[in-house]
Amino acid sequence: MTIRRVDQVELRGKRVFIRVDFNVPLNEKREVMDDTRIVSSLPTIRFASEAGGKVILASHLGRPKGKPDPKFSLAPVAIRLSKLLGREVSLAPDCIGKEVEAQVERMKEGEVLLLENLRFHPEEEKNDEVFSKALASLCDVYINDAFGTAHRAHASTEGMTRYLKTVACGFLMMKEIESLEKAILNPQKPYVAILGGAKVSDKIGVIQNLMDKVSTILIGGGMAYTFLKAVGYQVGKSLVEEDQIGFSKNLLDEAKGKVTFLLPSDHVAAERMDIEAKREVVSNDRIPQDWVCLDIGPETIRAFSEKIESAQTIFWNGPMGVFEMEPFSHGTFEIARAIARSSAFSIIGGGDSVAAVNQAGVADKIGHISTGGGASLEWIEGKRLPGIEALRKDG
Ligand code: 3PG
Repeated sequence: MTIRRVDQVELRGKRVFIRVDFNVPLNEKREVMDDTRIVSSLPTIRFASEAGGKVILASHLGRPKGKPDPKFSLAPVAIRLSKLLGREVSLAPDCIGKEVEAQVERMKEGEVLLLENLRFHPEEEKNDEVFSKALASLCDVYINDAFGTAHRAHASTEGMTRYLKTVACGFLMMKEIESLEKAILNPQKPYVAILGGAKVSDKIGVIQNLMDKVSTILIGGGMAYTFLKAVGYQVGKSLVEEDQIGFSKNLLDEAKGKVTFLLPSDHVAAERMDIEAKREVVSNDRIPQDWVCLDIGPETIRAFSEKIESAQTIFWNGPMGVFEMEPFSHGTFEIARAIARSSAFSIIGGGDSVAAVNQAGVADKIGHISTGGGASLEWIEGKRLPGIEALRKDG
């Protein structure tokens, strides 16, 4: 069943509930640090408002453990959104209840209201029926533009759609679906997947799924050391998931003759994880016993970049090292630059990799920057995302 888009449904005079993902990072002053997710949903919000809808926005922020907590209020988001939209967006005191219902009742066509954090109610994450019905009763039309939360079967992403006839996706959601489909259904070869980040265990599903789709898998970041240990190297004090060594070995065996599986051949190793610590570039067989590897080295950057530059499709999730610390950021930034140089259709998902392309100043050279880390990984793993499945509906 196809998914309708916001511009294919009647909105004039209707109460239009838009599930957005405004789960954005805040600084210690509780100001929005990165508004990418807010900006990405503006086209849907503007469209619904200009089409004469009474626009009700709903999101979660952080993980407030099912009770109101001012630390997780969406107030800073309402401020940033008002600035971006150039009009006042009021914040409701809650996301359900009499006061919210009255506020919605008073809304005029084109007005925008932001509901308070959905996760102040434990029923949101439990996908509770009564809570889902309460959310559904606030609106006539349901739009989901929260790709970043599409892998969660929560009341606002899944439950409430059962009680509404008219459901559709927003422009951001559609763009994410189309871009990720390109990487899964008919990817142009060579297809290079670059996986990094701390743990192999987080990426098991995605590696297995990519195995028969991609030409090359490049492994960097903390997870590389479990693989290197699996092939017999001593990796000093680098991060290793002992219980994943067997799995890593099997994967490498399975890859033989099927996929080029490249592990780092050199590293930036340091006495400890500290910008002041003594550090050195070392090859796989020279990792000092008491040192920790915190980035890929120059030889690895060259080898990875060569593969990247000749690719036609690229998927990247996870940094190549501890890129938050300048001495160990080089590998991640160089990989971001290599992707930017490549003529491939590139997809980047995951907060860290997205931050890296932004910091490297190459975001405009990337085919698609996904607003969903967990969601894009689950999609690439081949899983069906409940927030998307719930939109496949007639009516
Ligand atoms: C995210 O940031 O990945 C989404 O907003 C989902 O948040 P969650 O992992 O807390 O469900």
